[in-house]
Amino acid sequence: MFVVEQAIFPATDRDEFDERIDTIHLVGATESRVVGAVRLYPLDRTGDVWQGDRLAVEPEFRVYQLGSDLVRLAVSTAAEHGGRIMKAHIQIANVRFFERLGWTTDGFEETYHARPHQPMVIDLLRLG
Ligand SMILES: CC(C)(COP(=O)(O)OP(=O)(O)OC[C@H]1O[C@@H](n2cnc3c(N)ncnc32)[C@H](O)[C@@H]1OP(=O)(O)O)[C@@H](O)C(=O)NCCC(=O)NCCS
Repeated sequence: MFVVEQAIFPATDRDEFDERIDTIHLVGATESRVVGAVRLYPLDRTGDVWQGDRLAVEPEFRVYQLGSDLVRLAVSTAAEHGGRIMKAHIQIANVRFFERLGWTTDGFEETYHARPHQPMVIDLLRLG
């Protein structure tokens, strides 16, 4: 779903982070299928800094706050694993969505996977 709609990856978005044992995949599902997902993993050995990516919700399920719930769950999961901050490369169209969830911009727009993205961050030690 994510691969086809985003048209960023040629065939699959699997990468080395999918092979790591410390990568966590969170999904939202009906009784019969997965309809949303997000991935998170520590960026350093201390486990202080986490990254989230591959957030996606099936189009017909984008009315249930599932995307927000997945982001909040990813953030709280990183915090429970001892993370201090969490980072993400956010597509420009989704910056407002993340701001509403407490994330802030972190530096200048960048090119990531050949598309403009905004680095964003959330402080895991200041979660409400
Ligand atoms: C971005 C995405 C995950 C949001 O999922 P979702 O389930 O639709 O989000 P929610 O239902 O939790 O939305 C919560 C609120 O944010 C709003 N919102 C959703 N996407 C938004 C966006 N891109 N910009 C601003 N607001 C947005 C919703 O309208 C909703 O508003 P409301 O509370 O006033 O009703 C989903 O649109 C998606 O899968 N997009 C394609 C993949 C993608 O862009 N992934 C992120 C890559 S950085």
